[in-house]
Formats: sequence, C-alpha cells, structure tokens
Amino acid sequence: MSHNTIAINQQMTRFDGHTEIWLFGYGSLIYKADFAWLERRPASIRHWVRRFWQGSHDHRGTPDAPGRVVTLIEEPDAVCAGMAYLITPDTLAHLDVREKNGYLRFATELSLDDGRRVEGLVYIATAENAAFLGPASESAIARHIARSAGPSGPNSDYLLQLAHALRAMQAEDPHVFAIERELTGRRTRPAAPG
Ligand code: SIN
Repeated sequence: MSHNTIAINQQMTRFDGHTEIWLFGYGSLIYKADFAWLERRPASIRHWVRRFWQGSHDHRGTPDAPGRVVTLIEEPDAVCAGMAYLITPDTLAHLDVREKNGYLRFATELSLDDGRRVEGLVYIATAENAAFLGPASESAIARHIARSAGPSGPNSDYLLQLAHALRAMQAEDPHVFAIERELTGRRTRPAAPG
C-alpha cells in the first residue's frame, strides 16, 4: 500500500449521513487540534497500544530521513488513553491530508471520561503501509527521534509534547515515557571530559 492514504480514506462510507463524528486522537492529535471541534474530552480505546513504529516523511522527517511517530498496534485487553473530539464531517478533509502519511480511518468504540461509550473514528498506520518502520528498542527509537526533523519541526518536540500531554491527562504510557527518559537523559548527560 502506498504511504499516501488520502484517496483510500475518502472512500470510507461508515459515517456517511452523520452530522457529528467522534474522533479519537492518540498522538499529535492529543496536543495539536488545528481544526474546529464541538466538544473535547479525554477518552480511551481498548485492544490497542501506542507505539513509535510509524515513519514520518511529511511532518517530523523527510522521505530520505523519516522521523518516528506513533501508531496503534493491536494488543488484546490493552487500553490506550487519548483525546476525543466531536467534529463535523467537513473536518475529515483536513484530517485526511494531515494524516496522509500511511494512516487509515478505522471505526472503533471510544470510552469517554464521562462514562459514555460512543462509536468513533481513529487514524491508524498499519504494518502494510510503505512508511511503517516497526519495532526497535526504546533507546534506538530515542536516538532516531533525536536526529530527525521535518516540515512540522524537530521529531523530539513531537515526543516531548506528547509525553507532556499524556502526563497532563494522568495517562500512563510506559513506552512513551521510557523513550522520553532516554531522550532527555541523552540531552542532559554531561559531555565526557577531554
Ligand atoms: C493521532 O494523533 O491520533 C494520529 C497520529 C498523529 O497524528 O500523531
């Protein structure tokens, strides 16, 4: 599958006729809402974990030197915390462009922080997309992030803003926080003498 998913996503008919749609964000969509929304609240989805396994050619890296950004990987009974936005369908055109580097729209059940369960939409980059990088150790991921940058800025800003936003929601994410520790530890470690 090509890493540009705009055309595939525009064929999704699941929410046709809906006047409002719940969107679940788990990466930059948590901390950067550059679109109109009607309601926004912390939420979670089940059976998925957040992983820095997706290559970024267009935001935090380039086609020649992709950065690493998050996607969701299936894991039975896992819970992934994120942010839900109630949007109108016209916002999907903007989101499809923003998430075009390998992310596909999926329908999923969201648990909102007020106890409601709703059907919503989430963008996931699966292993079939050409920009998928897959697993690596948390220290290797941190090193990769430390040296990457793209049109949206340094890859490290993506990681640090995501970690900050998760902490602000009191959300646990051992994978994200371990990579953050590796990165900030690397940054603050004093240079070797000589
Ligand atoms: C998301 O935030 O929900 C998708 C991944 C990203 O744009 O960082």
